[in-house]
Amino acid sequence: MKKIKIGVLGGFRGKTMIDWCLHSGEDVEVVAICDSSETVREAVQKSLCEAASPAKLYENFEDFLTHDMDAVVLANYANEHAPFAVRCLEKGLHVFSEVLPVQTLAEAVRLVEAVEKSGKIYAYGENYCYFPATLEMKRLYRKGVLGEFEYGEGEYVHNCEPIWPSITYGDPEHWRNKMSAFFYCTHSAGPLLHITGLRPVKVSGFEIPPNERGRSVGAKGGAGAIEMITLENGAVVKSLHACSLAKNSIWYSMYGTRGRAESRREDASGESVGKLYLKNDTAAHPAGEWAEYFPSFDSEEPKSGEFGVEGESSHRVVVERSKKPDARLSFGHYGSDYLTMINFVRAIQGKPADIVNVYEALDMAFTGMFAYFSALDGNASKQIPDFRDKSVREQYRNDTRCCDNKAAGGQLLPSSSIRNEEIPPSVYAAVRKKYLDSLK
Ligand SMILES: NC(=O)c1ccc[n+]([C@@H]2O[C@H](COP(=O)([O-])OP(=O)(O)OC[C@H]3O[C@@H](n4cnc5c(N)ncnc54)[C@H](O)[C@@H]3O)[C@@H](O)[C@H]2O)c1
Repeated sequence: MKKIKIGVLGGFRGKTMIDWCLHSGEDVEVVAICDSSETVREAVQKSLCEAASPAKLYENFEDFLTHDMDAVVLANYANEHAPFAVRCLEKGLHVFSEVLPVQTLAEAVRLVEAVEKSGKIYAYGENYCYFPATLEMKRLYRKGVLGEFEYGEGEYVHNCEPIWPSITYGDPEHWRNKMSAFFYCTHSAGPLLHITGLRPVKVSGFEIPPNERGRSVGAKGGAGAIEMITLENGAVVKSLHACSLAKNSIWYSMYGTRGRAESRREDASGESVGKLYLKNDTAAHPAGEWAEYFPSFDSEEPKSGEFGVEGESSHRVVVERSKKPDARLSFGHYGSDYLTMINFVRAIQGKPADIVNVYEALDMAFTGMFAYFSALDGNASKQIPDFRDKSVREQYRNDTRCCDNKAAGGQLLPSSSIRNEEIPPSVYAAVRKKYLDSLK
């Protein structure tokens, strides 16, 4: 089969996808990489040399776009994906977009129209949908093991203070420093929407106030945000995400009419998203007990006889289903970075694939966007539009509300709905120094 030629814009996070192309053994080749940072290009060049890859490095997007490619991975700034996605789709390229898909509703209109017009694959890289635990929840839910979805929680709490110098370089204009706490919202809500396939219809947003942990490294937005989301069937989801809270957590929980499933509630780690607890009225284990197991990527619904072999207690039955090492786990974020890419490639090849398409990507992003509008409006509930419906999009065509002065025009929003104190230049200078020292 002809290899798919892939280009990557943004070589920092993008290095994960570059490495996937170099080492997954799939029918792909990375042919071009673009990054304006010399430091990043040097690091990428090293990987390419080690793998004897002839991929070409570019400093400028316009030159990069002239390269002969089939598909592009967008791992540039999180608030600038949409304009680049539109350019690539117009050029006839398939697009894999890192989080977030858009930063304004006007961009969302243009993005969805570009995808529809191009007929190309657009896959949103919400990798947290592809953890062993979230994939297993999807399998269980789709097979009816949990019944109808009634309530769920998603958490993505990443205390970024220690890594802030290396991911913002002390640049006061970096998107991470200017974003509201609601912006980076799809890791927490996204998996629950993808598991259930249900559309979010309204949301109320609550901001956790800016704190010293964030301000000390230059972050202007709140410490975190909570969205209370109503889905189309009336189910409710609580989505919590934060960059400046004290600890880390990646955690998902689902209540259905027949049972409950949740990932392990520990600090964020491979273990936490690699393990699942299940209690329902149909599982083939003693009634009323919890099944606790490590689902594999390829597993099917737990079968009779698979429970109850190890660590049995009166409260739960522990099962380790597979001790075979899975090479996919080494590709980052507990294997989810492997699965987002392989599904993108399968979709391009016309094979069955589990991708997050543009409509679902916007559903995910709108939970945070409209929650911020809610927080700015005293937490009033906001309806979430469905961009599948062309007539709904029209009223948002010129809606550029966001925290980025480059995209907002006259509709600039503050970084926080609670307080917006200036951060002295000396803070950014100190963070910049830390970053530069780390390069020595
Ligand atoms: N899904 C995940 O688990 C995950 C994890 C980390 C980062 N991300 C996402 O990856 C993306 C990149 O984040 P990051 O951590 O690498 O930090 P970043 O946003 O600071 O890096 C972006 C990189 O793209 C380059 N770049 C930006 N615009 C460019 C342009 N026009 N031309 C050439 N180069 C350009 C920059 O030089 C930089 O190296 C973001 O969207 C972020 O949300 C996702």
